[in-house]
Amino acid sequence: MVRLRSAQWYEGQDRNAYIHRAWMRRGVPDDAFTGRPQIAIANTASDLTPCNAHLDEVGASVRNGVYEAGGIPLDLPVVSLGETNVRPTAMLWRNMAAMATEEMLRANPVDGVVLLGGCDKTIPSLLMAAASVDLPAVVVPGGPMLNGTFRGSPLGCGTGVWKLSEEVRAGTLSQEQFLRSESAMIRSRGHCNTMGTASTMALVAEALGTVVPGVAGTPAPDSRLLEAAHHTGRLAVDMVAVDRRPGTFLTKGSFHNAIVALAAIGGSTNAVVHLLAIAGRLGVDLTLDDFDRIGSRVPVLVDLQPAGRFLMEDLHRAGGLLAVLREVRDLLDPEALTVTGEPLVTYLDDASIWDTEVIRTRAEPLVAEGGIAVLRGNLAPDGAVVKPAAASPHLLRHRGRAVVFDSIEDFRARIDDPDLDVDADSVLVLRGCGPKGYPGMPEVSNMPLPRKLLEQGVRDMVRVCDGRMSGTAYGTVVLHVAPEAAAGGPLALVRTGDVISLDVGARRIEVDVPADELARRTPDQATVDGYAAPRRGWERLYVDHVMQADTGADLDFLTGSSGFEVGRESH
Ligand code: FES
Ligand code: MG
Repeated sequence: MVRLRSAQWYEGQDRNAYIHRAWMRRGVPDDAFTGRPQIAIANTASDLTPCNAHLDEVGASVRNGVYEAGGIPLDLPVVSLGETNVRPTAMLWRNMAAMATEEMLRANPVDGVVLLGGCDKTIPSLLMAAASVDLPAVVVPGGPMLNGTFRGSPLGCGTGVWKLSEEVRAGTLSQEQFLRSESAMIRSRGHCNTMGTASTMALVAEALGTVVPGVAGTPAPDSRLLEAAHHTGRLAVDMVAVDRRPGTFLTKGSFHNAIVALAAIGGSTNAVVHLLAIAGRLGVDLTLDDFDRIGSRVPVLVDLQPAGRFLMEDLHRAGGLLAVLREVRDLLDPEALTVTGEPLVTYLDDASIWDTEVIRTRAEPLVAEGGIAVLRGNLAPDGAVVKPAAASPHLLRHRGRAVVFDSIEDFRARIDDPDLDVDADSVLVLRGCGPKGYPGMPEVSNMPLPRKLLEQGVRDMVRVCDGRMSGTAYGTVVLHVAPEAAAGGPLALVRTGDVISLDVGARRIEVDVPADELARRTPDQATVDGYAAPRRGWERLYVDHVMQADTGADLDFLTGSSGFEVGRESH
């Protein structure tokens, strides 16, 4: 057995070892400090992150498993980010949460960690932290909410809000009915039950190998989640014994599998940014183009909202992620390992599809080629992404006049103006919403359509933005434009009336302005005024150091790993 990292605190007869042990005793047995792995439970439970509020109960099951296997469980509350509450966007704080968790794991007498997350940014920040501290780590995803229903139809988190609020704007749903749907949508503990970012990241974390295979997607109120948490607690102790750290088993092949899974589940575009950031922490050479190369021809097999009909509870009932992956087994890297030490593909043998409406077979996919497409052109020299499965087929090749907005406030002030010069063929452009510009790259890219066009029955338009889009949203939206306007990207130079052409098949996004004219243009003052200019605190640090979306929007000094080396004595 390897000498435990925590022994550097607890071993010996001297004054310092006395101090470390004495304060930690509080009823634990004497042998707690000799040879028993100290397992942190990095817990993002918080009442202000309602999607994760139940994680204390999950953590209690992890504790039991850790004890049972001979380890010592240690609750470690970490920064928690609630997607619906945190302003200006939870994404601004993802890197901060990752940094804080990484540093607290390193600073403490910890040998391994169980990561409890759920809401959108929580699993990404925990995995970024675990990758950088490189201690044995395993995720227990908090699980989705139970299905909602409203007026006899499934009502999914997020997706239902976008859909119903557009119906109110179009005059086909009353305000009273709209408000009544609130509690029909959020009816249990857990994270969003659509294929939004939370569901996507839980499933992708499993495909990556960081969750016990078969666990991701278990609904939050399901007893089997607690059973899995208990089992994971035991596993964490074993992982310490065999020194199974992220740096030892997360490879390019693991990310390959994550990208295949992302496409097959029809997952959120946000996973692109998060996976790039996690890879950046590991030193795995993953690029934006890998998503197109590996994922774009993978069929979408899961019929979940926002692109489809069902919700996460249905996916679990239908066989879950492993049943999906079994259909695309030939596309997976057979060598890529999981937290158990076994390759992911070995778990596919026993998987079955129990409902082919929810999980389609390879022979009858929902969308034949459904991954994320990476676009380039003079509007996005470093890339932009679009999710064809969530877009309108007739808009995938489109030319239209730009209608440009310098901020989300500018957009909201003018979009419903009856005199706004816009028609169904126009291309809505919103800038100043990238990592630096907003700051934090919020989910504002799925701009609501102009009311006068909604009233005419228009339901989708081409939209272009340097921000992100909620994984629960849909539409022909070109996202993550890099470089963003505030980082000197050409998006800052587009003017209302310029013609923009989108050709997803050719992977192009262009503005029809000659190169020399584009080079002569400078951003208008109103555009520049829309960019954030924080003077102090985290926002200042963030704006000064954040990288662009195409490399994961991490801070430049947080890429890579500092490892688990124990720091100097504190006294
Ligand atoms: Fe938390 Fe959707 S708001 S997962
Ligand atoms: Mg979201």
